[in-house]
Amino acid sequence: MPDKSDSKATLTIDGGPTLELPVYQGTIGPDVIDISQLTPNGRFTFDPGFVSTASCESQITFIDGGKGVLLHRGYPIEQLAKHSSHLETCYLLIYGELPTEAQKAEFEYTISRHTMVHEQLSTFYSGFRRDAHPMAILCGVVGALSAFYHDSLDISDEKHREIAAFRLIAKMPTLAAMSYKFSIGQPFMYPRNDLSYAENFLYMMFGNPCEDYQVNHVLARAMDRIFLLHADHEQNASTSAVRLTGSSGANPFACIAAGIAALWGPSHGGANEAVLEMLEEIGDESRIDEFVAKAKDKNDPFRLMGFGHRVYKNFDPRAKVMKETADEVLTELGLEDDPLLKIAKRLETIALEDDYFVQKKLYPNVDFYSGIILKAIGIPTSMFTVIFAVGRTVGWIAHWNEMHSAPYKIGRPRQLYTGYPTRDYQPINTR
Ligand code: SDX
Repeated sequence: MPDKSDSKATLTIDGGPTLELPVYQGTIGPDVIDISQLTPNGRFTFDPGFVSTASCESQITFIDGGKGVLLHRGYPIEQLAKHSSHLETCYLLIYGELPTEAQKAEFEYTISRHTMVHEQLSTFYSGFRRDAHPMAILCGVVGALSAFYHDSLDISDEKHREIAAFRLIAKMPTLAAMSYKFSIGQPFMYPRNDLSYAENFLYMMFGNPCEDYQVNHVLARAMDRIFLLHADHEQNASTSAVRLTGSSGANPFACIAAGIAALWGPSHGGANEAVLEMLEEIGDESRIDEFVAKAKDKNDPFRLMGFGHRVYKNFDPRAKVMKETADEVLTELGLEDDPLLKIAKRLETIALEDDYFVQKKLYPNVDFYSGIILKAIGIPTSMFTVIFAVGRTVGWIAHWNEMHSAPYKIGRPRQLYTGYPTRDYQPINTR
């Protein structure tokens, strides 16, 4: 239970009894008010979209949206992106501390030895149409993993939870690459234990049995950084979906499939794919003003994809690192004059100077530049959210595990009912 603070929240409704609500203090960030006394007094809170609601206590990630701060177990994302790797950050998110040399080597060895999937899963893909969206395939295949791993489904067993984490972190790149290979009619590439996590993913995506695959270390580093930057982000929609699904006791594979489904939406993880589609629709710098005007028009549902965030009311620190990575990758590939990157940079400048965006504190988010990097690496737009899911898997499983490592209740929100009061059934001949 969190530390109670000295301050109290008092609530008096219509002159009734005054409720004294406990206030809890975190390590950093806003205090929270425990409102559990409200229901016995016949009331609920009302907070659609959970804008002002803390759903749980957590020690994994902290965001200060006003300052553009993102910490993973206390370490700033900028430092992790510069000095760490995705697998080392996975270790940090799951175990709470950076690994020693020996712990890191053992973790990397363990993950690499879980990258293969059951051969029967390969035939699972053949049930999909070739043009199925890779996220649709991923939702189905990850949910099906629980049909293969009956040996690690006891969620009360810490070792079962750990092996499920290993399997999910290790197999997501393999399943993601298989979704791509299936869509282009090429054979699946088996993972290789001599490659790093990101190198292996690029190999499984772009390698083929007819020739050796040469790893481009700049692209592999960029791919690893993209996984790292997407690793975790507090109680976002997909992580909340994983926690809510997990609170019923569902197995980890079903919970991660729920996270994948929630991530797919264009307001969340689907935004990276939507950013590329938007940049391609803008097509030329001369049309940017037209699209900025559409984004500002209350009667137009169009939004500038890759801008805005529920929490960040300052630059998303991940977007800054992503922008640097985009410059590195495009320079490495000789694409400095990439037209989409030029449109993106011009759009960012215009939006950041426009009163509408300044007033509403709409800054580029993690999705704004990631699509440009992925496109430059040669990953098709339909795979962008799949890449996000691969990176975010460790965050989902870390939160799922954190929830199961302490007492928890099944999530069951209440509602404000505005439907009909009780009424009697009407026989059809009287309607
Ligand atoms: C991710 O939660 C996380 O942590 C998510 C994430 C993670 O790592 O898990 O960070 C990943 O999902 C990043 C966000 C990717 N989505 C997009 O880029 C889609 C475009 N952005 C928006 O749809 C929107 O900004 C959200 C969904 C991201 C946030 O929406 P909120 O917090 O519910 O804010 P809102 O919709 O109430 O917007 C506030 C105002 C509104 O105007 P008013 O009604 O107050 O007049 O800002 C406007 C909105 O119309 N607005 C935008 C806008 N985003 C918000 N106007 C134009 N273009 C935009 N992109």
